[in-house]
Amino acid sequence: MNPIGLVFDSQFCETGLVPPVPVTAGRLASLLLAQLDGSPLERPAYASLATAVRTLAVDGRLGQDVRLPSERDLSTAMGLSRTTVTRAYAELIADGWARAQQGAGTFLRIPGSVGHAASPLVPLDGVEVDLTAAAVSCVPGTSALIERAMADLPALLRGKGYQPVGLPRLREVIAERYTRRGLPTTPDQVVVTSGAMSAIAVVLRAQVRRGDRVAVETPTYASVLGAVPAAGARVVALPAGPRSVWDADAVRATVRASTPSLAYLIPDFHNPTGELMTDEARAGTAAALRAGGTLALVDESLVDLRLDPGPMPLPFGVHSPEAFAVGSVSKPLWGGVRVGWVRCPTTQVAAVQAARLTLDIGASALDQLVAAEFLAHPDELLGLRLEALRTMRTAWLDALAAVAPTWDVREPTGGLALWVGLPERVAPELAAAAATRGVGLAVGTQFTSDGSARERVRLPLTATLEDVDAVARLLVTAYDEVVTRGTAATRRPFPLIA
Ligand SMILES: Cc1ncc(COP(=O)(O)O)c(C=O)c1O
Repeated sequence: MNPIGLVFDSQFCETGLVPPVPVTAGRLASLLLAQLDGSPLERPAYASLATAVRTLAVDGRLGQDVRLPSERDLSTAMGLSRTTVTRAYAELIADGWARAQQGAGTFLRIPGSVGHAASPLVPLDGVEVDLTAAAVSCVPGTSALIERAMADLPALLRGKGYQPVGLPRLREVIAERYTRRGLPTTPDQVVVTSGAMSAIAVVLRAQVRRGDRVAVETPTYASVLGAVPAAGARVVALPAGPRSVWDADAVRATVRASTPSLAYLIPDFHNPTGELMTDEARAGTAAALRAGGTLALVDESLVDLRLDPGPMPLPFGVHSPEAFAVGSVSKPLWGGVRVGWVRCPTTQVAAVQAARLTLDIGASALDQLVAAEFLAHPDELLGLRLEALRTMRTAWLDALAAVAPTWDVREPTGGLALWVGLPERVAPELAAAAATRGVGLAVGTQFTSDGSARERVRLPLTATLEDVDAVARLLVTAYDEVVTRGTAATRRPFPLIA
C-alpha cells in the first residue's frame, strides 16, 4: 500500500480527536528508507536524518504529536550510530520540530501544522503567513446582511428552534437555485446541514457500509480523505487525465476494477486545481459511473466562484439523476455561517434525513436565516468576493511570473487557489523550509490518496497578504535552497500533471 494510505488507515485520526499512535522503530526506519529512496544519508548524517523526519511530517506520513522511537531502537533499526540519531533528535528539538518530555520520550511537533494530520483551519503555531487554508473572510456589507436576516428572528422565536431538515424558507431558496441552474428541484429534496463537510458526512453515513470503497479524484479536497475512512470505507483514487483532473476512461476502468459504492467529485472550480468540468466530461463521467453502479456525490461548494465571464456547464445532476449534490455558503459568503445542504435524489430523501438525524438534530437557526437572506440576494456580496479573489489572483500571477518563471503557474477560471507545479518533486521539503521561515504552505500530497503531487503546492487566493511579492520571493529562496541541498530522492525527474 502507498505510504499515504497508511497514514489514513492508522494515523489520520490525529485531528486532535484521538490520541496519536506512536511510530515504531521498524516502521519509522522503513518510512525513512523509502524517503531516501535507497541512497545513503548525506553528510552530516544527523542533519540528513533530521531533514528526512521533517519531510515525513510535512507530507503527512508522520502526524502531529506522534511519539518517536527511542534513540537506541531507531539506531538499531536504521543501522546508524546512536550518536547520529541523538544529534538528529537534538536538531529537531532545537528547531522546534520535536519536544522531549522527561520520562515519556520525544514527540513530533509540526510548526505551521503543515501535515495531513492537522486541519488547515486549526490556528497555527509560529506561523506569520498562513497559506494553508483556502477560506474567505467577510466582504464589506456582511454585517448589514446579518442584520437584515435577523428581522425574521421574532417569528422563529415562537417555535422550538429545531429544524432537523432545515428552515422551510431556506430549503425553498436552495431548491429554486438548482431549478434556475437547470436541475429542477423541490424543497423536499433539500436537507440542510451545518456546512458542506457535514453534508458529505451525512451522505457517507446514508450510503456507505463498512468495507465499501469510495472513489475520489486525484487530487481532491483534503478533508474528504479523512472523512471516508472515518465512515468505515476505503479511498480509491480516480487517476487524473493527461490534461485535466477528469478522465472518463479512467473512471470507467477504476469503477470496473474497484466497484466503489460512491464517487466523490468536485466538478465546479475543483479544490485544489480550480478546474471546471466540461459538459462533455460531465456526461462521460456520469455514464461511466452509472455503468459500474457507482453513485456520484457531487460537491458544489465552489460553484459560485467563477472568476472569468462565460457560460457555466449544467449541474452534474442533469447527467446523473441518481447523484447526491452538496453545497454550502462557506465559500461565497463566510465559513462562520455554518450552513450547507444535501440535494437528494427523490428516492433517497428519507435515507438522508434519517442519517442527518444521527449526526445532529439541526443546523443553527440563526445561521439558516443568514444563509437564506444571502442565497436569495447574493449578487452584491458575491460581486465583492469575486473582485477580491481576482485581485489576489493577479497579484500571485504577477509575483510568481517575476521570480519563478520556471514554475508551472496556470490561471484558474474560478475557485479559491492556484495549483502550482514546481520543477522538482520537493513540495514537502519546500513546505518544511517555508515553515521554518514562518510561512505555512499546503503541499500537493495532502490532497492525494496515493502520495502523488509531490511537485505541487496550493496557494490560496484568500490570503490577505500585504506583500505578495515578498512571500513569493521567500518561497523561491526556500525552494532554491531545498533543491541545492537536494538528495537523490528529491532530484528525480517527474512529469508535471497537466
Ligand atoms: C470542496 C470543498 N468542500 C467542502 C468544504 C467544506 O465546506 P464547509 O465549510 O461548508 O463545511 C470545503 C472547504 O474548504 C471545500 O473546499
